[in-house]
Amino acid sequence: MEKLSGKKNTAVLISGRGSNLKSLIKYSKTKKALITIVLVVSDNTIAKGLNYANKSNINNIFIKYSNRKSFEDRLLKLLKRSNVDLICLAGFMKILSSRFIKKFNRTILNIHPSLLPKYKGLNTHDRAIQNKDKYSGATVHIVTDKLDSGKIILQKKVKILKSDTVKSLEKKILKIEHKIYTKAIIKLLASD
Ligand code: GRF
Repeated sequence: MEKLSGKKNTAVLISGRGSNLKSLIKYSKTKKALITIVLVVSDNTIAKGLNYANKSNINNIFIKYSNRKSFEDRLLKLLKRSNVDLICLAGFMKILSSRFIKKFNRTILNIHPSLLPKYKGLNTHDRAIQNKDKYSGATVHIVTDKLDSGKIILQKKVKILKSDTVKSLEKKILKIEHKIYTKAIIKLLASD
């Protein structure tokens, strides 16, 4: 596949709902977008996010995660075939190996629902509420072989209200996520 007018060929990896994928697709359709989404990959056959890719006629595929190596080898082949130069993880629930990261050898971004370095891993909203934090938020960072630990590209915070529940906080943060993923991509690529 040819690279389109200097835009980065991008693959988005998902496992479920796909609301971040939806907002990335929306951005990619704008005139000044710096990315073209050429591939969506899910490790979950019933990921709702796959519908967004289908609706927009974006090449999408389910890869069965029998084991990490077979999943990643298949993925690497697809990435090569589609000339992918940027991967965006968007609710992708598997951890990529350092071997994969080295072999891909290009930027991989992730969005995480906390103010990293706080609350790496899962259940971030619950942990922030339990700890009576005043703020939480979302972070876009570079993926390295250490979980949720790569260089931070962009972060935005929200206030945690006394009345907030895990659900209400998740909703607030998701709204932010949809804004900062695009902004982070622009920040990263505009300087290229
Ligand atoms: C988001 O909260 C994201 O930060 C986290 O997983 C969730 C995915 O949501 N990594 P969605 O599938 O994009 O709606």
